[in-house]
Amino acid sequence: MKLKIALLAGDGIGPEVIDQAVKVCDAVATKFNHQINWTPALTGAAAIDAVGEPYPDATHEVCLAADAVLFGAIGHPRFDNDPSAKVRPEQGLLKMRKKLGLFANVRPTFTFPSLIDKSPLKRERIEGTDLVFLRELTGGIYFGERGRQDNGNTAFDTCTYTRVEVTRLAKKGFEMAMKRSKKLCCVDKANVLESSRLWRETVQDMEKDYPEVSVSYEFVDAVAMRLVQWPNSYDVLITENLFGDILTDEASVISGSMGLMPSASLGEKVALYEPIHGSYPQAAGKDIANPLATILSAAMLFDDQGLAEEAQAIRTVVDRSLTEGIVTEDLAENSKAYKTSEVGDWLATHI
Ligand code: IPM
Ligand code: MG
Repeated sequence: MKLKIALLAGDGIGPEVIDQAVKVCDAVATKFNHQINWTPALTGAAAIDAVGEPYPDATHEVCLAADAVLFGAIGHPRFDNDPSAKVRPEQGLLKMRKKLGLFANVRPTFTFPSLIDKSPLKRERIEGTDLVFLRELTGGIYFGERGRQDNGNTAFDTCTYTRVEVTRLAKKGFEMAMKRSKKLCCVDKANVLESSRLWRETVQDMEKDYPEVSVSYEFVDAVAMRLVQWPNSYDVLITENLFGDILTDEASVISGSMGLMPSASLGEKVALYEPIHGSYPQAAGKDIANPLATILSAAMLFDDQGLAEEAQAIRTVVDRSLTEGIVTEDLAENSKAYKTSEVGDWLATHI
């Protein structure tokens, strides 16, 4: 099979972790007789520096022409500490999500048996956790009207959802629940927010189309608590953009490291695969960042291309590296810490 993948390394540790994912994917391609054609393109602070724009049109064209997009990370402290900056790397990320129509962000959370004691949570709570968040990604407060009033002394952000937006996300949630354990949790704040009441009403209306799926409705604050108390009680969770952003960072604690959790963003056009972690600027260029989240995102990419065996080959070799202690410093406690590039080389060789 011929695969055309757009490669958006971005900022911070993005380029380093992306390099490892490319090594591993190329090893998979060799083993299974595929041909991957990588097309790099600029995003984030790197793109602002080069062309003054965090998601340039040229990059959008590269993405549209690809079968899938593999993305590293976006963000640079130079902008975080400057509230007056007019152009920010994160705007590129939001623009990319919107322009590519990536409305469903799939963020799985699972545990690795060999890492279970690395989690700050007790083994008996988290053992066997296997849940997946479907985070709405192109609506809500991230994209609502915002601004200042009263000479800059009042600020507002608005959260707006349409029934169409909720329906298409929830549909993916129901479909995923049907393929898993037929359990769906709709996370909202319907006791306070009107937009949440629309979510709840819409999902309730859809229940009749999926009679086998048992749906629960839970408030986001309660989910934040139960997620780390009883992660095993969840399977598929659907939620709006901001709640999903927060809860998926929280959920990553269950796996023991943020450097492990992959994601896929699906929608109307081409799909995009990226680690859930950020650009981790403190580690940039040091060859110490954990590349596994990006590599496991590439596994999701293969899965979605119908290449399940290839995806499994990646997961198997990742499992093996964890068991054998070929890990970066975030996971190496009393053992040797390997460099980012060494982990990538090891995985590629053992594929
Ligand atoms: C994420 C990130 C982004 C978000 C930031 C970098 C804008 O935290 O992908 O979860 O909030 O969506
Ligand atoms: Mg986030």
